[in-house]
Amino acid sequence: MTSLSDDPSVVQRILDHIDRRTTDLGESTWREPVEHYRSPERFAAELARVLRRYPTPFCPAAALPGPGSYVARSAAGTPILAVRGNDGRVRAFRNACRHRGTQLASGSGCEKAFMCRFHGWTYDLDGGLRHVPHEHGFPGLDKSTRGLVPVDAVELHGVVFVTQDGPPVRGASLDGLPPLIPPDLEVIRTTALETPVNWKILVEGFLEGYHIRSTHAETFYPVQFDNLNVVEAFGRHNRVAFPYRNINKLRAVPPAERSATGVLTYVYHLFPNAMVATFPTTIVMVVVEPLTVDRSTLVTYALTSPRNRDGNGRAAVQSGGEFVDAGALEDREVACAIQQGLASRANEFFEFGRFEAAICHFHRVLHAALEGNA
Ligand SMILES: [Fe+2]
Repeated sequence: MTSLSDDPSVVQRILDHIDRRTTDLGESTWREPVEHYRSPERFAAELARVLRRYPTPFCPAAALPGPGSYVARSAAGTPILAVRGNDGRVRAFRNACRHRGTQLASGSGCEKAFMCRFHGWTYDLDGGLRHVPHEHGFPGLDKSTRGLVPVDAVELHGVVFVTQDGPPVRGASLDGLPPLIPPDLEVIRTTALETPVNWKILVEGFLEGYHIRSTHAETFYPVQFDNLNVVEAFGRHNRVAFPYRNINKLRAVPPAERSATGVLTYVYHLFPNAMVATFPTTIVMVVVEPLTVDRSTLVTYALTSPRNRDGNGRAAVQSGGEFVDAGALEDREVACAIQQGLASRANEFFEFGRFEAAICHFHRVLHAALEGNA
């Protein structure tokens, strides 16, 4: 069960904020040492103790639509191969042949089996080693012990979570996650953009609406409110609601019938490094994949309903995508400017204010996770 408010409650809170010219406020502020964005030691600890130990969002389940479909990419520096089996289950493996370690797959696609391009060792979709050419060259080889090395993978609420080194995820819930991506959506676009920015700076950019007017003056601000958000922490995660100006039309709708669709964007921050954002015709999932202390890859999946394959739906998806891209470009420019500002040594800490409660929660949980207490 999630502790998040339902749509009518969120809408009411937003309408009240509009009337009172207020926004949600966190209880306290947070000072994060700037060194934590610059230190290779801190970065290594984040990878080892958090990003490889906790269940981390890897891709939308819809990126693996049928048996044999796979996604291969690095997660926290580890090459991972996620694949849907013939039994419909999603599994994930360390992406390396058990002979001499060649990566078996890259990008995404669909295969009946994974054959190593080096010597042809071949693995089934469940990771089992099926075939070794000229097997007599490996006397005593027990193929049953040389399958792909698995990591824990679960498909939950439309997202595939991978846990590399931590305890496997059990049960049908993960820290109170609500439904995130409806099962009937399809992936329409995947991009991977390397960005010269520490991963935490990129995550922070998604988690507050205090910058809407100044950063997004001609993109988001004309249709959204500045510094007007509903911010909810749940478990290690956050949800931030960014209302559109058209939400005022819901004043005429009975409270119990008020839906969030088309009047606000929910940004779900899935600890530690992913966001799922809802838009009128699309859902966008972004994984901020740390590469080094000052470089990350933004892996972005856009999803929509198959109903939007043509006609008006297609046009709405197209124009909505261009709108979001324009805002995302502005966020990336600011993130790059923050990264460059780190070298100024002007600040010992960054201070996140009461409007930035979701970021405060992120850092609080990250600190606790590094200490082994989250
Ligand atoms: Fe922004």
